[in-house]
Amino acid sequence: MPLCPMRQMLDEARKVGYGVGAYNVNNMEQIQAICQAASETKSPLIIQASRGALEYTNLIYLKHLMAAAVEESPDIPIVLHLDHGPNLKICKEAIALGFTSVMIDGSIDYDKKTPEGKHPARSFEDNIRVTKEVVDFAHASGVSVEGELGTLGGIEEETHTDKVLLTDPAQVEEFCKRTGVDALALAIGTSHGAYKFKHEPVLAMELISESRKRAPETAFVMHGSSSVPKELVDEVNKYGGKLPGAMGVPISSIQEAVRRGIQKINVDTDGRLVVTAAIRKVFAEKPGEFDPRKYLGPARDALAKLIAQKMRDFGTAGHAADYEPKSLAEMKTLYAKK
Ligand code: G3H
Ligand code: 13P
Ligand code: ZN
Repeated sequence: MPLCPMRQMLDEARKVGYGVGAYNVNNMEQIQAICQAASETKSPLIIQASRGALEYTNLIYLKHLMAAAVEESPDIPIVLHLDHGPNLKICKEAIALGFTSVMIDGSIDYDKKTPEGKHPARSFEDNIRVTKEVVDFAHASGVSVEGELGTLGGIEEETHTDKVLLTDPAQVEEFCKRTGVDALALAIGTSHGAYKFKHEPVLAMELISESRKRAPETAFVMHGSSSVPKELVDEVNKYGGKLPGAMGVPISSIQEAVRRGIQKINVDTDGRLVVTAAIRKVFAEKPGEFDPRKYLGPARDALAKLIAQKMRDFGTAGHAADYEPKSLAEMKTLYAKK
């Protein structure tokens, strides 16, 4: 099966009413595990790479690892997506590498810094301007675009941006109309990483329902969707880790978010946790082991199991054969007609 445009994958999910996980990858074992989970559960799949992942893999390795994944998984539609693209230049690089979708994180100006060393939040108008530039460029090649309205808490709050702003549903319709984005990340109170909440999870779920009314045909994205399961944190800590007070988004909240209108669910941290737990276990139980395959192998197996469960929980499982992926050339023609 060829690569799939994200627009088509999320349109299908919206019509049927399920979520598609978008899983961050940086290396071969992660890509293999995620594809294995998708094949086992017959799930459409979004593999995403951050700017950090592109740097870590020197671009070319990631490109070929992803190509291998697509070649090895002929029965599943796969989207290759750039996560948190900071500007048009990086989005262009991802498109040149063969990504079928890019995110332009126009809510934050990554190219500037405040005196405190944080990135300033962009105004609504500036966000529209930079997002539209990327949409115009990407759609001319049939590539899908995700924008962001509002900013995430957590990592962005503490180290990236000077402001945390939940999405204002009143701006959603205008943003979607003026930019033409295929998908929009809503800020509803989640954050990246393992420390999302101090006491209990609190999310502005009504923002999703309100936004859905205002933009009925745009896919919505939930970033910071790792659940940080207690058993996994305990496992990491049991084998020498130190993650006190880690907390994530319960699966039941993600399912509610999907019912209210989320289609794309971004997950990175849970994958990091499960890999770390598995590697720590081998190191603790077999201190004489020094063959990387003996700890990366179990880590890959544990990741595949975790992601397969997410695919069932998000409702993605069983939908891989629902449609034939459109080519980017077809998407280009469709965009040109709009
Ligand atoms: O957006 C956040 C993802 O977890 C990617 O993280 O920038 O460390 O690769 P990263
Ligand atoms: P988590 O840190 O919750 O896994 O979120 C990942 C994410 O939003 C990537 O864009
Ligand atoms: Zn994110």
